[in-house]
Amino acid sequence: MGCLNTKKLKLSSMKKSLFVFSFLFLLRLSLLYGWTGRFQALMDINPSFGNKPSNSRNITILLWYWPFGRSLSLRGDVCWDLYHIPHCRLVDQCSLFPSADVVVFHNRELVQGRKKLPFDLPRPQGQRWAWMSLEAPVYSSNLRQLDNLFNITITYRRDADVTIPYGELLPKEDEGVEDVPQNKSFLVCWVVSNYKNQHKRSMVYKELSETVPVKVYGRWTKKPLPSRALIPTISRCYFYLSFENSVGKDYITEKLWRNAYKGGAVPVVTGPPIDDYKAVAPPNSFIHVDEFASVKDLGKYLQQLAGDKERYSEYFKWKKEWRVKLYTDWRERLCKVCPQYDRLPQHKVYSDLEAWVNATSN
Ligand SMILES: *[C@@H]1O[C@H](CO)[C@@H](O)[C@H](O)[C@H]1NC(C)=O
Ligand SMILES: *[C@@H]1O[C@H](CO)[C@@H](O)[C@H](O)[C@H]1NC(C)=O
Ligand SMILES: *[C@@H]1O[C@H](CO)[C@@H](O)[C@H](O)[C@H]1NC(C)=O
Repeated sequence: MGCLNTKKLKLSSMKKSLFVFSFLFLLRLSLLYGWTGRFQALMDINPSFGNKPSNSRNITILLWYWPFGRSLSLRGDVCWDLYHIPHCRLVDQCSLFPSADVVVFHNRELVQGRKKLPFDLPRPQGQRWAWMSLEAPVYSSNLRQLDNLFNITITYRRDADVTIPYGELLPKEDEGVEDVPQNKSFLVCWVVSNYKNQHKRSMVYKELSETVPVKVYGRWTKKPLPSRALIPTISRCYFYLSFENSVGKDYITEKLWRNAYKGGAVPVVTGPPIDDYKAVAPPNSFIHVDEFASVKDLGKYLQQLAGDKERYSEYFKWKKEWRVKLYTDWRERLCKVCPQYDRLPQHKVYSDLEAWVNATSN
């Protein structure tokens, strides 16, 4: 009798938890779909694959000078040959200025005064000048001189005219099995070369390392990692500190996309607010420092999670459906202007570029 009763009791509590579980599952699903929906909007901008269409005109993108002085070959029909983007003529000869639809200027050289804008040339009707940068706002001071010149922005921000993220997730063609990385030797790892006490991330690190062990690599520790050792090293950690060195709207770099996601460690992030991450990364694929009342709580959570195989594996579920695409080549970023060309604002001038650059996340 007593035994039966306990069974009943167990059954009813099982039912209850089943109910709670299904509810949570549905909630998760709807959140995921919400995320997918937003994501799908980005996917509209798909380069066409297959045969190169031949009817429409070519769009000419002129790169006025190469970012950081490092030039790459533009021989052949680069955008088609490398990225299957048709009708996109990417050039770097300044003599082609009169026929360029878009002229692109990388920010760094302009604000440092090492490159000048072509004020001496007559600006063709309809030509757009593009301001391009991948850096955090803190490196984009001195922008006053650039007011009222640019028609479009090319940067990692979602609200830029052309968004060039450090990475993104693309749907997997064939649903794979998520493999939960095994063979972990360290709880938390961090690779840092430029350590500054006043960085928010350094304070989080210090506090976290008082709660849980944090294995640190990189130039700061005088143990620099050769780049080929980076991913294998990170793959031996349960968690990786994808801490951005400065805070900026949508400023999410390879520290998330490459180091953590490709390394198979769960990213612990700090940088822009959590909503900026949610907009581009699946829920339950990262842990944001702001989710916790204190860094101590974060540390405790990480410790518990590492000890719970099942819950830890939940953080890799997204890998069934998505794969990480990294962007590292300026040519690819520039070719991406073409498929969006028809959707660029017809008449737009950035009258206060500095204010736009320094806008904070909502
Ligand atoms: C577009 O550019 C490609 C590659 O440079 C060239 O072969 C083709 O003739 C151009 N098409 C038009 C319509 O100008
Ligand atoms: C686990 O890691 C150790 C140390 O890096 C390595 O020697 C070993 O081959 C790894 N085992 C598996 C199954 O990956
Ligand atoms: C681009 O900006 C300039 C101002 O610098 C403006 O005269 C021109 O009309 C703008 N063009 C477009 C297509 O928005």
